[in-house]
Amino acid sequence: MSAALHFFPANAAEAGRLAAALEVGAEPIAVRHFPDGESLVRAAPSAAAALLFCSLDQPNAKLVELLLAASALRDRGARQVTLVAPYLGYMRQDIAFAPGEAVSQRVIGRVLADAFDALVTVDPHLHRTPRLEDVVPGIAAINVPAAPTIAAALGGSLAATADVATILVGPDEESRPWVEAVARPLGLETIVAAKQRHGDREVAIALPEITRVRGRRAVMIDDVISSGATLIACADLLRAAGAASIGAAASHCLASAADLARLAANGIAPVLVTDTVPGSGTRIAMAGALADAIRRAGLV
Ligand code: R5P
Repeated sequence: MSAALHFFPANAAEAGRLAAALEVGAEPIAVRHFPDGESLVRAAPSAAAALLFCSLDQPNAKLVELLLAASALRDRGARQVTLVAPYLGYMRQDIAFAPGEAVSQRVIGRVLADAFDALVTVDPHLHRTPRLEDVVPGIAAINVPAAPTIAAALGGSLAATADVATILVGPDEESRPWVEAVARPLGLETIVAAKQRHGDREVAIALPEITRVRGRRAVMIDDVISSGATLIACADLLRAAGAASIGAAASHCLASAADLARLAANGIAPVLVTDTVPGSGTRIAMAGALADAIRRAGLV
């Protein structure tokens, strides 16, 4: 099937890298806003297999235009429309934690499943719904892990200072799979903390076996950096326990420039993140891993 990638302007750079890795054309989705804020979306003529690239950070601002673009692509000739959302928002709220709360993951997952034939994403924040297929029922769902890409980048940066032993630190129990997936190819030791969240920016962390970090380079590994509060609380413990240096790596970085500056001010450097969400600083390209997964799944 002929294939092309379509993208929203906010993701032009990452989409361009993916189109180059897949050796397919890339077409922007044109968006105009009426005075009341309503969106008018226009898609270029489509190949039979359309990939629509839209990372779903800031999802409220994007979802309506995403649905309009999927429909426009079908009108323009696409027989199969795949959503490539390297960051998939609305995955946190997978149950009602208090009576009356909407289960956002279920609602948004069904909306996406209705609009698309397949979903490709990176490390979705799934806990109580372990399978991505259950989030978007009835369509192909492909999870591309960031760990191999992060491990390759981290391995390169560690090689420059191989004299200091490194230990990877999970800042909470939910980070364990990511910590282990990055540690395995690098042959590194791991420890995992326990976290209690008291608010959007308030967390308390306890780190058993903390004496193991003394004199070592500690690199915290998580799936998401949001406010950065988790990393800062964990770094405080690592510093107090005598870590020689403290870095971090994460699949997704939602943090603002101010929050990233706070990480640096708290002695956390380097911070390695991928380009699943555009933003300041160097972001490791996921294009190669995404292209491999898209080809393997036969979506182009
Ligand atoms: C929690 O389950 C996640 O894995 C991250 O630890 C969390 O989203 C990070 O948020 P923040 O940077 O605001 O502490």
